[in-house]
Amino acid sequence: MSGRMLATCAACAFSLVFVWPTQAQQTFGESHIAVENPAELSKDEANAIYDKLKEMMASGYGLSQIALVDGYQSWTRYNSAPYLSATHGQRFVNNYANATGKTYGSLKAGEQLPAGTVLAKDSVTVKDDGKFYPGALFIMEKLNAGTNPDTADWRYMVINPDGSLAGDTTGDGPELVKYCHDCHIGMAEMDYIFYVPDDYRVAR
Ligand code: HEC
Repeated sequence: MSGRMLATCAACAFSLVFVWPTQAQQTFGESHIAVENPAELSKDEANAIYDKLKEMMASGYGLSQIALVDGYQSWTRYNSAPYLSATHGQRFVNNYANATGKTYGSLKAGEQLPAGTVLAKDSVTVKDDGKFYPGALFIMEKLNAGTNPDTADWRYMVINPDGSLAGDTTGDGPELVKYCHDCHIGMAEMDYIFYVPDDYRVAR
């Protein structure tokens, strides 16, 4: 590690763990990963943590048997690394879009994503013990025009990491996920999507 890196590294405990992967593997437990200060994760560190948890996450969400998000991890991911999302419960999140939603990354004001677009935002959560665990899966599905005027034809859904459904605007517990659109409505001119924070965008 160079002197400059040491000087600029606000959380060197991470770097020491993460710079050498073999050592890192010994430090990690079977499935849960601990770090000292999650807010200071680098992109590499966040990706490494996600890589360790993503299969477990997919199996957990899969228990919901909601086919809409089957195989979502093979869709295009629009962020370079999981990033902290204050608006989704201070979780580290990723943004995936299915093939129908391929203009998710290039949408211009006034344009709309086509019906059948599914946006899946999975998440990793940090608990008080400083360890990372699978978090909820946040979903937006674009419905056919006129299907659901209350939410501008977007369906919002949340699946818990154990596969249970936390709410669905077109199914069980719609009132539990009503707040989703109340915030996304701020982006009405961009078809209600916020997209990825600038420094985490992947050029597409
Ligand atoms: C307080 C505002 C707010 C609330 C509430 C909110 N979101 Fe978001 N959502 C955002 C922002 C900001 C982004 C993009 C940046 C990020 O991920 O933090 C986003 C991104 C998303 C994306 C990726 C598509 C996009 O907009 O780029 C999905 C999917 C999503 N949210 C689903 C949900 C669901 C489901 C809920 C309700 C359980 C919800 N959101 C609640 C603000 C919000």
